[in-house]
Amino acid sequence: MVAVAGRQALAFARVAAVVLLCITGWQLGKGNGELGVNWGTISHDPLPNNIVVKLLQDNNFAKVKLFDADPNVIESMRGTNLEVMVAITNDMLAAMAAGTDAAAAWVKQNVTAHLGSGGVNIKYVAVGNEPFLNGYNGKFTDVTYPALKNVQAALAAAGLAETVKAVVPCNADILSNNPLPSQQTFRSDLAPIMLNIAQALDSTKSPFVVNLYPFLSLVLGTNFPIDYAFFSGYSTPLVDGTKTYDNVFDASYDGVVSALVTAGYPNMVVSVGEIGWPTDGNAYANITLAQKFNQQLVNHVESGKGTPLRPGKLEAYVFSLLDENAKSTLPGNFERHWGVFNFDGSVKYLLDLTGGVSGTQTRLIGAQNVPYYPSQWCVLNPIKDLSTLPANLDYACSRADCTPLTTGGSCSGLTLQQNASYAFNQYYQFNNQLKSACDFQGLAQVVTTDPSVGSCKFVIGVAESSTSTPSAPGSAGRSAASTSSPLPSLRILISIAAAAIVASLFP
Ligand SMILES: *[C@@H]1O[C@H](CO)[C@@H](O)[C@H](O)[C@H]1NC(C)=O
Ligand SMILES: *[C@@H]1O[C@H](CO)[C@@H](O)[C@H](O)[C@H]1NC(C)=O
Ligand SMILES: *[C@@H]1O[C@H](CO)[C@@H](O)[C@H](O)[C@H]1NC(C)=O
Repeated sequence: MVAVAGRQALAFARVAAVVLLCITGWQLGKGNGELGVNWGTISHDPLPNNIVVKLLQDNNFAKVKLFDADPNVIESMRGTNLEVMVAITNDMLAAMAAGTDAAAAWVKQNVTAHLGSGGVNIKYVAVGNEPFLNGYNGKFTDVTYPALKNVQAALAAAGLAETVKAVVPCNADILSNNPLPSQQTFRSDLAPIMLNIAQALDSTKSPFVVNLYPFLSLVLGTNFPIDYAFFSGYSTPLVDGTKTYDNVFDASYDGVVSALVTAGYPNMVVSVGEIGWPTDGNAYANITLAQKFNQQLVNHVESGKGTPLRPGKLEAYVFSLLDENAKSTLPGNFERHWGVFNFDGSVKYLLDLTGGVSGTQTRLIGAQNVPYYPSQWCVLNPIKDLSTLPANLDYACSRADCTPLTTGGSCSGLTLQQNASYAFNQYYQFNNQLKSACDFQGLAQVVTTDPSVGSCKFVIGVAESSTSTPSAPGSAGRSAASTSSPLPSLRILISIAAAAIVASLFP
């Protein structure tokens, strides 16, 4: 259960983070070689790490951002050129702040041990994830800066000052609520801390990392114009002095730039830690809009055009690589569907990660050699007495992922009986296709013909890797639904705060 709670905390952090498309260091003509992506692992049936690494390489992602420092995940990138950001979770910040010993031990175990000739190319350590979210009620406000200083000292003591940089991925609500990008400053209650952090980052020439959420602005904001969330132009752009903004990404990014200018760091690189668009679980979360947003985002980043205040190269990490079907849905049913790829590494939509820069259109390459369970599904047997169907449907959905069934989801048009089949199958796959997981008081049966209905896909689970232990249906392990963590509600607050900020940029 501790592990599950930890994963939930991470999931929460991940959601809150904005997809980082790393624009710094971007080199025109290098195609997608410099594009970053977030690799989250809160899934009931995660892909084996070596398959994910191949997926990253096949699609030419150059930078990978993690949400913790799982040694198996980090080691899976040994010997590759992938530039890795490892992370200290928020719950470890207090220990890092308390003294240099904890930070030194962390760096030794989670950075130094993975380096060396032919090792892992670790370039960044994220010190916390969005520690200043309003939703945290200040819990991490006082420990983040001391933790950053101690981690910097530990990196320097380990001889890594030049090669591994500490950063602090921030949420958008670190900013004041000014409608104009040029007028943005750090939130008054955070200003002294942000000044310290900016100074510390500047001393090591580290970027300022911020997460941006046009999707959440659209979904959670009121009267947010949909065209302003995208990059194809907006009929009544925001005019800010001599600058004109027709997309919320540029406006938000330049808001951060302005805050740094005011703080005295006009040249600090701003890197977008998370940015993306989900594909299910909300009326605005579908493949059409996600494909449009992510393609326009990649094109924007790779064009080298930059923003009105920062023409030139941008850096960003896409959120996210894969769907994560065990994340909390408290932020919204879309939460499990941010992946550019499905949970099993299959391709969701066409996306040219070179942004046309390479001259030839490229497309995503799906995961190879995925160890699926056999081609069998669990569905309702409709000739049975269906009086217990609603209760069994609820049971399955409370323990598996039914977010596609909800309003706006990819399976929202199903009948009640199809709903039951969908839920039964999700539960069955989550439970490793155990025979006992396809019973539901005698209502269910295993079939070998794909029961998918149009765009509503009935999935086959990814087999557990040999290192993890399967658990029986209903036990607290693999089948536990992510409903109990107190953290996800913070995510909602965060999202709303971020949306409010971004919405405020639009008069
Ligand atoms: C290294 O990171 C892992 C995973 O985040 C964490 O559990 C562990 O405590 C860290 N090691 C040290 C010495 O802090
Ligand atoms: C995607 O969502 C938008 C906004 O809700 C909607 O107008 C559009 O029809 C949807 N497209 C598909 C293919 O579902
Ligand atoms: C199918 O399940 C969803 C999610 O629980 C629910 O909103 C919808 O009403 C159900 N459909 C039918 C026909 O009962």
